[in-house]
Amino acid sequence: MDADLIKLVNKLQDTFANLGGELDMPQLAVVGSQSAGKSSVLETIVGRDFLPRGQGIVTRRPLVLQLIHTPVEQSATSFSQPYTEWAQFLHIDKRFTEFDDVRREIEQETYRVAGQNKGVSKLPIHLRIYSPNVLDLTLVDLPGLTKIPVGDQPSDIERQIRSLVLDYISKPNCVILAVSAANVDLANSEALKLARSVDPQGRRTIGVLTKLDLMDAGTNALDILTGRIYPLKLGFIGIVNRSQQDINVEKSLKDALESEDEFFRSHPVYRNIAHKNGTRYLAKTLNQVLMNHIRDKLPDMKARLNTLMGQTQQELNSFGDAAVYGDVNQQGALILRLMTQFARDFVASIEGTSVDIS
Ligand code: GDP
Ligand code: NA
Ligand code: MG
Repeated sequence: MDADLIKLVNKLQDTFANLGGELDMPQLAVVGSQSAGKSSVLETIVGRDFLPRGQGIVTRRPLVLQLIHTPVEQSATSFSQPYTEWAQFLHIDKRFTEFDDVRREIEQETYRVAGQNKGVSKLPIHLRIYSPNVLDLTLVDLPGLTKIPVGDQPSDIERQIRSLVLDYISKPNCVILAVSAANVDLANSEALKLARSVDPQGRRTIGVLTKLDLMDAGTNALDILTGRIYPLKLGFIGIVNRSQQDINVEKSLKDALESEDEFFRSHPVYRNIAHKNGTRYLAKTLNQVLMNHIRDKLPDMKARLNTLMGQTQQELNSFGDAAVYGDVNQQGALILRLMTQFARDFVASIEGTSVDIS
């Protein structure tokens, strides 16, 4: 995630908190058919290997992943060793510093509640990741949409999963990553169908097209990626995640990103749109969406600030002339000056930022 954006969001959240308000950041949820690559996409956004992925139904409970920004000093002193990143589940009192252990715990906790045999549960797993490299954001990994019950799944599994997914993506504050695999006809995309039902204008839906590497020879997704097939304000972004073979041989995220870059740069059809595709571009787009969200919150922040300044001014006046040189008054004036300066800086820094996504 972009370091400047992280800094900005953190300072804004502090400012808002000082003003008695709240800068609530959007939730980000993935929706799509089973094995479309949802977990893979989320993982690359976080930049850490920690989610169970694979063929068939792997994600069987919602995973509500809260990223929590932690300044380096604070994280370093919380341990005898200077760890800068750690994870913590709601259901177990333990700090995880190895992300492989996090994945194993998610798997075990899935078995514990949803059983061994492909069952799905609405009960979410809550996981927090503390890191200096993230901004406060909640990401939700969801079970894939299916049609046919397997294993212990009830006969109405399709309806159950739909309703579970809708619980998350129908919130107006939710940014939807609608994940479709490029080797399946887009007309059959359950992700887009469901996203459209809660976001008919396509304002908060980002189309993600995975598995571009698996398309039939002689076919390509150029028309979809350039927005000629399905209109979404935030557009479609093509992705190449790690294949099952890559997962089996534990190919690193860094190597995967490099192969993905190479795929787009050397592809005869995608070469010209390479800069608007891939995981890095998806991350950039998300940053822009977050900036837009923050910008929408600015009027509220300004209003709060004005009220507070009015109150402080009144307080200053009520002290009267006698208190002009007193401690209290000086403190009040100082606060007023700092707040004003603070607010001006931030409003200017956001308004000066271009947030066009086109
Ligand atoms: P989910 O069920 O939607 O969460 O999908 P997963 O992320 O678990 O991925 C399902 C399977 O598809 C895994 O074996 C992945 O390795 C594979 N996969 C996902 N995305 C891609 C991709 O872009 N290309 C290739 N070749 N395989 C992918
Ligand atoms: Na899967
Ligand atoms: Mg999954």
